[in-house]
Amino acid sequence: MQNLPHHFGTDASLDEASVRELSRWLTANAGSSRRLSEPPQDRITRTGWFAHEHDDIGAATWQLPAVKSPSNCMACHAQADKGDFSEHRVRIPR
Ligand code: HEC
Repeated sequence: MQNLPHHFGTDASLDEASVRELSRWLTANAGSSRRLSEPPQDRITRTGWFAHEHDDIGAATWQLPAVKSPSNCMACHAQADKGDFSEHRVRIPR
């Protein structure tokens, strides 16, 4: 939240009120430090948790044009923009 203009290669700048509100929410709802402690480059896709949840997915799938990268959650979790990652709504592109 301290460096939003340089957010993993994207300018994610927000107005001050939004930054304050999001910071409060993040602090109140952060995961346990044991599960997500300092993944490489601070990326959720490099956590042991992410690898475990996605260990059925082969290398070829991650490289599909419709997927491109593990960070493209929407490619398979079509409701990700609504915060829905339920395993019942996962569709892996072919
Ligand atoms: C290539 C497709 C694909 C991409 C991209 C992907 N996922 Fe998944 N995800 C899956 C599959 C498949 C499962 C396992 C579903 C199951 O257990 O049957 C899964 C499981 C999950 C689960 C556990 C769901 C549950 O109900 O147990 C979460 C949470 C999750 N993914 C989050 C993410 C996030 C966050 C991203 C982006 C940073 C992401 N996924 C990117 C395919 C994908």
